[in-house]
Amino acid sequence: MRVLTGIQPSGKLHIGNYFGAMKPALALQEEGEVFLFIANYHAQTTVAEAAALREYTQGVALDFLALGLDPSKTVFYRQSDVPEVHELAWLLSLVCPMGLLERAHSFKDKTARGIDATHALFAYPVLMAADILCVNADRVPVGKDQKQHLEIARDLAGKFNRRTGEEVFKMPEAAIREEVAVVPGVDGQKMSKSYDNTIEIFGPPKKVRKTVMRVVTDSTPLEDPKNPETCNVFALYKLFASEEEQAELAERYRAGGMGYGEAKKALAGKIEEQFGPYRERREELERNPDEVEDVLRDGAMRARKAMQPVLNAARRAAGLE
Ligand code: ADP
Ligand code: TRP
Repeated sequence: MRVLTGIQPSGKLHIGNYFGAMKPALALQEEGEVFLFIANYHAQTTVAEAAALREYTQGVALDFLALGLDPSKTVFYRQSDVPEVHELAWLLSLVCPMGLLERAHSFKDKTARGIDATHALFAYPVLMAADILCVNADRVPVGKDQKQHLEIARDLAGKFNRRTGEEVFKMPEAAIREEVAVVPGVDGQKMSKSYDNTIEIFGPPKKVRKTVMRVVTDSTPLEDPKNPETCNVFALYKLFASEEEQAELAERYRAGGMGYGEAKKALAGKIEEQFGPYRERREELERNPDEVEDVLRDGAMRARKAMQPVLNAARRAAGLE
């Protein structure tokens, strides 16, 4: 069973990304052969500045390695170190009807938010299909927002096989993380870098505390009972706390006499308790960029080794060889 997933370095990773994507990706390494890559070609569709792209890419590598990614178990690489995906993207684009891309929600959503409607943004699902099909992945765990992209990948695999009359690609199965709850941001909307409402995983502790203090709450007076179920602070607290701790804080909400400030302090404490121990490891890695580079280079070598036979089969089937 070969599993593949990717994450875009389109900003600093936040706790929504942690619970929605990183934690499940890290758990996979105990399950089988995992390929995990930093989708920096994809991030180029939204991050124009070279220095920012470089910083975010390195940040994703540091975050994963600090949080326990084991390179001996997971093939961890940067997308731009595996040029094979681009050649495959071309071969797939030959069988990709324009209509398929015109129906893609992600393109419509992003252009509606003011992101440039470039060819790269439009063709993004074809490159994503190439990421998946190039390693012959059996399973692709992704968030709900990526469901349509997975369908496109399966569609293109079938079309290419039919066009060439050969079984070049196997059908990747989507593993949609339906169970993952949406993590709210400080304004109560979905936490997202596009809304500028995030809490960074490895932000400086002081900054994280300040951000937590900005989480919006209602204006129930301090002495009144409060409803934990409708409170953003409590929703975030739940992600980090044990059942008992949750019950305890919920009780204090309902009893009244506790201000939101106190709940926020408890939340900030929990966040630090969760990520603090990994901060030191991250700083150590940051001081040793060569170590990180070695991991990514080795990962790219292993990924390319898996990709080359697939790409060669696709080239042959398409008549390039
Ligand atoms: P952002 O919304 O900050 O741009 P991305 O779209 O790059 O984040 O997210 C990458 C993955 O992280 C998503 O596919 C999703 O699985 C997960 N994710 C992002 N934000 C959240 C959130 N608020 N709650 C749960 N999961 C999230
Ligand atoms: N599009 C994905 C996202 O925004 C990232 C991604 C790129 C990906 N290529 C992939 C995920 C291949 C899984 C498989 O989250």
